[in-house]
Amino acid sequence: MRAIVVQKFGATPELADVPVPTAGPGEVQVALDAAGVNPFDLKMADGLLEGKMPTDFPMILGVDGAGAVSAVGAGVTKFAVGDKVVGKFLTAPAGHGSWAQYATVPEDATLVPIPDGVTTVAAAALPTAGVTAQDLVDAAHIQPDQKVLIVGATGGVGSFLVQLANIAGAHVIATARGDAADQVARLGAAETIDYTRARPADPHVVDPDPVGYRDSNVTDAVRFTHPDGIDVLFDLVSGPADFASHATLVRRGGHAYSITWGADENALREREITGGNFESKGRSAELARLLTRVTAGDVVVPVQMTVPLDAAPAVLGAGSARGKTVLAI
Ligand SMILES: NC(=O)c1ccc[n+]([C@@H]2O[C@H](COP(=O)([O-])OP(=O)(O)OC[C@H]3O[C@@H](n4cnc5c(N)ncnc54)[C@H](OP(=O)(O)O)[C@@H]3O)[C@@H](O)[C@H]2O)c1
Repeated sequence: MRAIVVQKFGATPELADVPVPTAGPGEVQVALDAAGVNPFDLKMADGLLEGKMPTDFPMILGVDGAGAVSAVGAGVTKFAVGDKVVGKFLTAPAGHGSWAQYATVPEDATLVPIPDGVTTVAAAALPTAGVTAQDLVDAAHIQPDQKVLIVGATGGVGSFLVQLANIAGAHVIATARGDAADQVARLGAAETIDYTRARPADPHVVDPDPVGYRDSNVTDAVRFTHPDGIDVLFDLVSGPADFASHATLVRRGGHAYSITWGADENALREREITGGNFESKGRSAELARLLTRVTAGDVVVPVQMTVPLDAAPAVLGAGSARGKTVLAI
């Protein structure tokens, strides 16, 4: 079968011909139609899991995938051949991912039926980014009218998070380059901040936009419009220095989360801010809940582009995401 693999950690991903995996006891074999692309895929290829999880090589990349059950192993009770399913194809040993024509997973892994009306392309965009966004909103217990700042709102996690925070009743402030402001506004942001906007070269020049954002500093821009601070910070991209700056906006007793290990949790506790470094733990129940929201039309699946499987090496780590990229297999 065709698959995108790396021969060792750090190697260049390539299209390869590898054996079709067979479903062992308790496992489900899925004929994949579509697979999601996440920043994690490149990190995994570069060795993020080295020493943490046994890995088989050539390592087939890809975590998120959707398709139809093509075989079931002995003892499988939850799924039958022909069922349309979506899930996460990452269990130990790693290296048997979703960027392939077939993959196998234990039936108790993160794997759920795709409801009628949801395409496999849309489903494949959900497991990592969508469930992370939903887990964040659940963790923060957002209350109506709370001010929620989302840094990195235009990418995979952010485009779901803007929608889900808006549904929870938040006043969403989202960072986005100028050309993406409309997109995040359509998804539910009440305000957008262009984090790339340059500070005027001469500080003595009269600001032509005195009520607008005057520099590239997100913290200054939010403080300018919300001098009393914000209730929740979801920072999806920053390192420690920028996260610490953004966190100064959060009121005492508020919530601040980093999904890129940027939070100094002791510093947050000193200001009675809950949250910190956040890792999504959502599994089948959470994925099924998100699919229900998609089916109801409450959540739009923001697919930026769909490309063929063999284009995966070109889109991996491409940056400047506007929603999700999905591989058509
Ligand atoms: N901890 C967890 O459980 C967990 C779960 C999922 C993902 N993650 C991690 O979270 C990060 C985001 O994931 P993702 O899937 O949303 O990535 P993504 O789809 O690549 O999106 C990142 C977005 O951030 C924007 N961006 C980059 N630098 C920015 C900055 N300084 N300020 C504001 N926006 C900026 C990018 O567009 P522009 O550059 O054009 O602005 C892009 O739209 C990744 O590092 C991923 O590995 C962690």
